[in-house]
Amino acid sequence: MRKKLNITEGIFPMPVLMVATYNEDGSVNVMNAAWGTMQERGIVALNLTESHKTVKNIKARGAFTVSIADAAHVVEADYLGVESGNRVLKKFENSGLTASKSEKVDAPVINEFPLCLECEFIEYQNGAYGLGVIGKVVNVTADESVIVDDKIDMSLVNAIAFDPYTHGYYKVTERVGEAFKDGLRLKK
Ligand SMILES: Cc1cc2nc3c(=O)[nH]c(=O)nc-3n(C[C@H](O)[C@H](O)[C@H](O)COP(=O)(O)O)c2cc1C
Repeated sequence: MRKKLNITEGIFPMPVLMVATYNEDGSVNVMNAAWGTMQERGIVALNLTESHKTVKNIKARGAFTVSIADAAHVVEADYLGVESGNRVLKKFENSGLTASKSEKVDAPVINEFPLCLECEFIEYQNGAYGLGVIGKVVNVTADESVIVDDKIDMSLVNAIAFDPYTHGYYKVTERVGEAFKDGLRLKK
């Protein structure tokens, strides 16, 4: 027997993305975004409310970075989703995290998060079914602590996922299969 749930945003896992930008004075701002994905290879789509400081910064600077939040920084990641740079310009400083300038785009890379996509702003889609911020990925970097034999080891990244059903964060670490391969065993 299946039970009806009163929820519409039921896809799990959703990512926990840290979207980093520069404020007008050059200080760093970061927000938490779960409504984001790879729209196609090399293109990210982030459904960010237009009034967020992050969106103003992206439009002004033409760039942003997207880091994958990890389990070691759940509190910081959540804080970046409950405070706005519109209200507190020192929001990022309050988080205790640190950042370096991207070598490729006019946006900061958060040092503490192991994986980062550096993006150029393409457009903001604000129609009823618009996707929000669309960006082109021009560089992807990873901390060497999560690289084994020249490949990312996701079990070392300790990424977290957002559960929209009960508003929880979950650790995503255990590899349970090989994509495009395991299923071949059932091909007739
Ligand atoms: C788990 C979580 C996920 C969130 N996902 C989004 C999102 O995808 N899009 C969005 O516009 N806001 C999202 N928010 C809310 C923003 O992070 C929040 O409004 C933040 O204050 C915006 O920061 P800014 O004004 O400094 O840019 C999320 C918040 C949390 C806690």
